[in-house]
Amino acid sequence: MSVSLAGKVALVVGASQGVGRAYALGLAAAGVHVAAVARKVLPSAGETACLREVMEAGRALGPPILGLGADISRKEDISRVVDETMASLGRIDILVLNAVYARFSDAFDVPDEDWERSFALNVRAPYTFIKLVAPQMMDRRAGSIICMSTRGSLPIPIDDSAHKGLLAYGTSKAAFNRIATYFSEELKPYNIAVNMLSPGKVAELAGGKDPTPEQFAPPLLYLARQTAETMTGQFRNTTDWNVSWP
Ligand SMILES: NC(=O)c1ccc[n+]([C@@H]2O[C@H](COP(=O)([O-])OP(=O)(O)OC[C@H]3O[C@@H](n4cnc5c(N)ncnc54)[C@H](OP(=O)(O)O)[C@@H]3O)[C@@H](O)[C@H]2O)c1
Repeated sequence: MSVSLAGKVALVVGASQGVGRAYALGLAAAGVHVAAVARKVLPSAGETACLREVMEAGRALGPPILGLGADISRKEDISRVVDETMASLGRIDILVLNAVYARFSDAFDVPDEDWERSFALNVRAPYTFIKLVAPQMMDRRAGSIICMSTRGSLPIPIDDSAHKGLLAYGTSKAAFNRIATYFSEELKPYNIAVNMLSPGKVAELAGGKDPTPEQFAPPLLYLARQTAETMTGQFRNTTDWNVSWP
């Protein structure tokens, strides 16, 4: 049986712009108490994308959004935002792991820094979040974890534009998929859903504009409602939403 979202608490990691912003606002509009995480809290010169803007955009939609500044390449920042969310909102029902590191490079010349940042942001950080957030979900035998993936994590043809030049990104996202499938099994006895969502080519789907909650949130909200009984361990594409799934 699917569960309703109003009154639940979501931690959205990577929420200051792009699809993470659309997810945070979409969850707020569904009545969810959202804690939104990113590095940029206030607008900087020439840059409006920041948590303050998301908090203001959410004001008219639903419960106030809690903005938490953190650099999730640092383990201590991850612990802090989990602790601050628990202290302010009491629990975490929905965990959206959306923040990313992605840089283009030649397959024979991926800089060491790109390997390190890709695995710190796309593998170690989501693993650390799951490790810290899952226990209180296990205590309540309820929760949904959504891992933002990409087609580039799959063995698609090398000349596909989602793959070309993104070896470290695709490799780290493939590892992230494995974390998701692994934890979907570990957490199944506790009725916690863990699923992967690939948003597709965001700029194309959003027509070159900022992705809107109306466009991008519906499949995310569907996954947020799942339990291990209804759907877990699955990889879904936003582009197939209302076509081949739900
Ligand atoms: N865009 C696409 O076409 C596309 C295609 C397939 C899959 N995806 C997936 O969809 C997800 C979102 O993509 P997007 O294009 O919307 O990403 P984006 O616009 O680059 O946004 C990434 C978010 O993560 C935050 N972030 C980055 N580094 C961080 C750090 N060290 N600590 C804390 N927060 C950090 C950013 O905020 P700050 O900069 O303020 O920290 C921002 O809110 C990703 O997981 C990506 O793999 C995207």
